[in-house]
Amino acid sequence: MKKRVFTAAQPSGHVHLGNYLGAFRQWASVQDDYDCIFGIVDLHAVTVYQDPEDLQKRTLEFAAILLACGIEPEKAHIMVQSMAPEHAELAWMLTCVTPIGWLQRMTQFKSKSEKQVEVTDGLLQYPVLMAADILLYNAAIVPVGDDQSQHLELTRDIAERFNRLYGETFVIPETKLPTVGARIMGLDDPTKKMSKSETGAGHAIGLLDAPEAARKKIMRATTDSQPHVDFDTMGPGVANLLTIHQALSGWSDEQVKGHFQGMRYGDLKKTVAETVVGFLEPFQERFRGFYSDRGELERTLHQGTEYARSIAADTIRITKRRMGLFS
Ligand code: TRP
Repeated sequence: MKKRVFTAAQPSGHVHLGNYLGAFRQWASVQDDYDCIFGIVDLHAVTVYQDPEDLQKRTLEFAAILLACGIEPEKAHIMVQSMAPEHAELAWMLTCVTPIGWLQRMTQFKSKSEKQVEVTDGLLQYPVLMAADILLYNAAIVPVGDDQSQHLELTRDIAERFNRLYGETFVIPETKLPTVGARIMGLDDPTKKMSKSETGAGHAIGLLDAPEAARKKIMRATTDSQPHVDFDTMGPGVANLLTIHQALSGWSDEQVKGHFQGMRYGDLKKTVAETVVGFLEPFQERFRGFYSDRGELERTLHQGTEYARSIAADTIRITKRRMGLFS
């Protein structure tokens, strides 16, 4: 039997090139070898206020983006978290074995709550819901970025605690897949990872950005005070542009070095912009194809969610029985 992979992303903010190169491309690459469930986690998104209409639109848009990234519904299941009530249900049961202190210690909770006038219980519970996502499916492998490894550690702690209190119930997930995607930094500030929540106009290349707008962003990307590429002394901005180029082109280190060493920054940017546009154009054509066929898109999500629920239902039944609840 294939090992199960579960991973997920929120349908909030603008999905960007860093998400593709660091995550979604990798999701697509494991669909042949694992039993994959990919979640669109809208219940996580609403831990901070979302405009309702906008959220629904972005959920569908995100599904079409995942398909455009090469995820094939015949191989991998794309599910919508809010369509599967088992997520919230298991989250409650896990909430009851999770000490508050564990949640208050989470660095993402601390940084997110600093930005809110009012901190909701949902924000605190966020990682418990994430634990439920993973444990519902007995996922063996959970590919996530570094920023989520603390939450994954917590998932393991919650699962172990539940197993200790109520008997062996959950599979303890491994953290990562052996291969890692590229880490793409912000174009305006190459010391920070490219982020969905960063609003600066020159920060990220959106996967749905007009190609010409993407080109302009690259041309304006922050570099450093040197005139041309020098692999020994280059700053993070130049390194980031080279990473983007290499990740999209598939060139080897030697090829990249041979081609770009000594090149003027203006020409480097033109080359990178060309490569990015060459990726975005066919990507967006695929996206439009999936997005415009609303009926098919919704069918894909229903089927993916039904598959997920058929597994989740068993976990809920077992978990309830262990706890002495009724199902
Ligand atoms: N918290 C994750 C993020 O923001 C998204 C997420 C929710 C997730 N549930 C998950 C990731 C379960 C992996 C597994 O990136």
